Amino acid sequence: MIGRLNHVAIAVPDLEAASATYRETLGAKVSEPLDQPDHGVSVVFVELPNAKVELLHPLGNGSPLTKFLEKNPAGGIHHVCYEVDDILAARDWLKEKGARVLGNGEPKTGAHGKPVLFLHPKDFCGTLVELEQA
Ligand code: CO
Repeated sequence: MIGRLNHVAIAVPDLEAASATYRETLGAKVSEPLDQPDHGVSVVFVELPNAKVELLHPLGNGSPLTKFLEKNPAGGIHHVCYEVDDILAARDWLKEKGARVLGNGEPKTGAHGKPVLFLHPKDFCGTLVELEQA
């Protein structure tokens, strides 16, 4: 059911330092930081030939990343995002398989302006999974 890997999201305590690491040490193409107040994050996009890496930093109070960074002060992989053709069909399929869809189960508009859903990490090998309708 899942298609391409869209992105791997990495929570980082210092967005500028993380951008410099990807730009200068790894030699990647790195965007300027973009604030996404609806999601409580500032994000830097790292463009790879076959997928993206997103460097995420908390924005504002109550960001979903604050707790994660308390547990992982050096940063760490926060979620992986897989593309699906039809997000509602994917959701129904997953629910039927017993997987837990986070929130109210209705897709939200994600970081790229497309519908997304998140799946419970305990159902997927300890990793938060985002599905994006490509
Ligand atoms: Co994401």
